[in-house]
Amino acid sequence: MTVLEVERLSAGYRNRVDVVKDVTIRVDAGEIVGVVGESGCGKTTLARVITGLSRPRAGVVRFEGVDVHALRGQALRAHRRHIQMVFQDPYLTLSPRQTVRQALTEPLLIHRIGDARSRSARVDELLDLVGLDPEVGERRPRQLSGGQQQRVAIARALALEPRLLVCDEPVTALDVSVQAKVLNLLCDLRDRLGLACLFIAHDLAVVRQLADRIAVMHDGRIVEQGPTLEVTTDPRHPYTRALIAATPTIPFGR
Ligand SMILES: Nc1ncnc2c1ncn2[C@@H]1O[C@H](COP(=O)(O)OP(=O)(O)OP(=O)(O)O)[C@@H](O)[C@H]1O
Ligand SMILES: [Mg+2]
Repeated sequence: MTVLEVERLSAGYRNRVDVVKDVTIRVDAGEIVGVVGESGCGKTTLARVITGLSRPRAGVVRFEGVDVHALRGQALRAHRRHIQMVFQDPYLTLSPRQTVRQALTEPLLIHRIGDARSRSARVDELLDLVGLDPEVGERRPRQLSGGQQQRVAIARALALEPRLLVCDEPVTALDVSVQAKVLNLLCDLRDRLGLACLFIAHDLAVVRQLADRIAVMHDGRIVEQGPTLEVTTDPRHPYTRALIAATPTIPFGR
């Protein structure tokens, strides 16, 4: 089943209108699609338009067949919970004053889900899902490692059982060993929950570890996309070749 369809999307800013140019991407249920490209090529701008944080200049974003940017009012609010975003810096998404438990309860409260008891049970479940001990729930962000913070951010994004997770450089700020754990977690969530995930990064070595398919972005355009193995072993576009040449070979596998 196709969860996300981005069709001929263009977007930008008032003083720079052409940041994302004519982008077409699809993500199916249970699939991780990686978007890779150098700093400034338009990845975050693309992510913001897909999640509905910014509006496109042209083109359409369909989530389960519904045009995301045509929604208003109640329909928009109801829709928001199905697409969640994880950002590069978890410390900025988590409030320093909230305990982990409060941070994970908040989305449930906002959407009026369950009662105190069922919300508490759901928080325990979320902590377990991302591999954190229950006692971590009583801590605040600054009492956690970067990897733990990003797990909390992912757990918070998963609280409302989204069907699409858009991750914008979720491991860039983490050590390589911690990166691997978060990447494994995302693979595990895809397999166990059938989650669809758009995973954005500037590092091909990271993206190819978990993506089923890869889209290569260069100067606002997708210059090549296909199955991970195909794109990384038989690249067609010169920019993809350059990207691979610049990527140190690292051992990878699931
Ligand atoms: N709010 C803004 N107003 C104007 N221009 C912006 C704004 N945000 C980003 N840009 C410009 O849009 C282009 C793409 O930025 P974007 O953040 O989407 O790139 P990116 O691929 O996410 O880069 P990085 O890998 O560094 O995160 C850049 O040239 C940037 O300067
Ligand atoms: Mg970015």
